Amino acid sequence: MKKFYSIAIDGPAAAGKSSVAKILANRFNLIYIDTGAMYRAFTYAVLKNNLDPQNEEESCKLIGKVDIELLENGKVLVNNEDVTKQIRDFNVSSNVSYIASYKLIRLEMVKLQRKMAEKGNVIMDGRDIGTYVLPNANIKIYQVAELKERAKRRYIENLEKGINCTLEEVIKDLEKRDYIDSHRAFAPLKPADDAILLDTTKYNKDEVVEEISKIIKENTPLKEYEK
Ligand code: DC
Repeated sequence: MKKFYSIAIDGPAAAGKSSVAKILANRFNLIYIDTGAMYRAFTYAVLKNNLDPQNEEESCKLIGKVDIELLENGKVLVNNEDVTKQIRDFNVSSNVSYIASYKLIRLEMVKLQRKMAEKGNVIMDGRDIGTYVLPNANIKIYQVAELKERAKRRYIENLEKGINCTLEEVIKDLEKRDYIDSHRAFAPLKPADDAILLDTTKYNKDEVVEEISKIIKENTPLKEYEK
């Protein structure tokens, strides 16, 4: 069987993981897998079915009934419905950490993530990729930035998208999600023992991309695909 390479990028909310991962995927011809989008998609389905995301038993009733697809063009489908925009709504964002803390739902998502990683060279971003989903990933990055900086970036992004919010609300939301994500019992947010810690507080996106590109080129044969 052909050996595929995998790059894991983990870290707290709004650390810039997905925008960096997308650029690297394009540069090195990798499949990009946004695992957060899967938990968001499941959360969307729970809310749509009028179930309570803070109730584990109720939410788990949907296991096996939610068909989640991440398309190559970045679109996210839930039971064939395009929910790409809806999964970024405030209501989904503020409930997704509860859904992501339920072990049975995680096991279902992880199955899908590992299946996708068997299809080619991948870059996958999330919270538990290096520790749980792909423990043998060739490169593990743990990308962090100070809370205020992450909140500022997310706040500007929201304003650009026309989402109305205050900086204080964004700070509170990120703090709450990071707390739940890092304190759950199963596969919590934490760096893998062999992860490279990247503090991006003082760096812009291009600098982070260059830094990770260097690591990829030094440690894998993926440079042969570089655009
Ligand atoms: O990266 P994001 O903000 O789109 O992630 C949404 C939520 O899903 C976040 O609260 C953490 C959770 N998540 C997780 O628990 N494990 C992952 N591999 C990816 C995301």
